[in-house]
Amino acid sequence: MGSIAEAGASSRDKIDVESVDRYVSSEWGTATLEGAELDLEDAVMGPTGRPQRDFPEPAPLASHGPARVIAMVNQKGGVGKTTSTINLAAALAEYGRRVLLVDFDPQGALSAGLGANPHELDLTVYNVLMDRKVDIRDAIQQTGVDGVDLLPANIDLSAAEVQLVNEVAREQVLDRALKSVEDHYDVVLIDCQPSLGLLTVNALTAAHGVIIPLICEFFALRAVALLVETIEKVQDRLNPRLQVDGVLATMYDARTLHSREVISRLVEAFGDKVFETVIKRSIKFADATVAAEPITSYAGNHIGADAYRRLAKELISRGGAP
Ligand SMILES: Nc1ncnc2c1ncn2[C@@H]1O[C@H](COP(=O)(O)OP(=O)(O)OP(=O)(O)O)[C@@H](O)[C@H]1O
Ligand SMILES: [Mg+2]
Repeated sequence: MGSIAEAGASSRDKIDVESVDRYVSSEWGTATLEGAELDLEDAVMGPTGRPQRDFPEPAPLASHGPARVIAMVNQKGGVGKTTSTINLAAALAEYGRRVLLVDFDPQGALSAGLGANPHELDLTVYNVLMDRKVDIRDAIQQTGVDGVDLLPANIDLSAAEVQLVNEVAREQVLDRALKSVEDHYDVVLIDCQPSLGLLTVNALTAAHGVIIPLICEFFALRAVALLVETIEKVQDRLNPRLQVDGVLATMYDARTLHSREVISRLVEAFGDKVFETVIKRSIKFADATVAAEPITSYAGNHIGADAYRRLAKELISRGGAP
């Protein structure tokens, strides 16, 4: 039996009423409520099988920096890395955090998603990596989102993987470049490309933490073992401070048994490392991308926006961001 039974009869009633209210009104949609009676025990459980909690509203920061650097990594494509990077950044900025986004994918989806035109970029992360005379501050741009800056990328970056091979300390190039701005930001989020090559290793070497966005489909689970192996190698050889901040389940569909099974597998494998916050599947995310805006401003009241705010609060309350 879960914690509800242990809580005793009187407090039990109270928990149920509040939680069911929330269950009906917001996060879990109607599909789960169709048909059979509502299972109250299920109702107070979040999709990760743990009781739903509210995370505290983050306290404002009195001063800024040094930044905590987080790499958003999964070598599988299309799992929600870029979407989560933009929206987590926007949510952190709503709580007064200064955020630098690093587009570390030659596809430049993050840059495009924030309205940067890939063909009109004078300086990108590529120039910062390859030419020590380029000051990272000259490449960083303000975005339309208050408190969020961007170090953009375009297709030039695809050459870096090959060119970096001959560099001294080739795994530390990004880390070195970020040093001069880390006091200006509270959080740096690096949006990695879907590969475990030298660029991603640079991101892991520069990072304090890794967030692994993971689409709620079985085939996606297979990629994780190799990813964890890579993270461990980087911890061993290059960056002992690196830790896994959390696994973020994305594109969750509460109506399917499949989604729920994937999450229970994840929790089995990663335990508390799985964020309690789960991102549901919604077309609104693609709409926001077309509008080149985070969902928090494109559709601020949408449950997708709330989910990323909740993720920001959860990350802060776990110590993953100041
Ligand atoms: N929660 C969601 N619900 C529905 N669609 C989503 C969700 N999150 C992301 N998407 C869509 O899925 C697609 C892939 O997402 P995204 O680009 O964030 O993944 P990615 O891991 O960065 O991909 P890549 O590996 O190619 O860089 C995009 O079209 C995006 O709009
Ligand atoms: Mg991406």
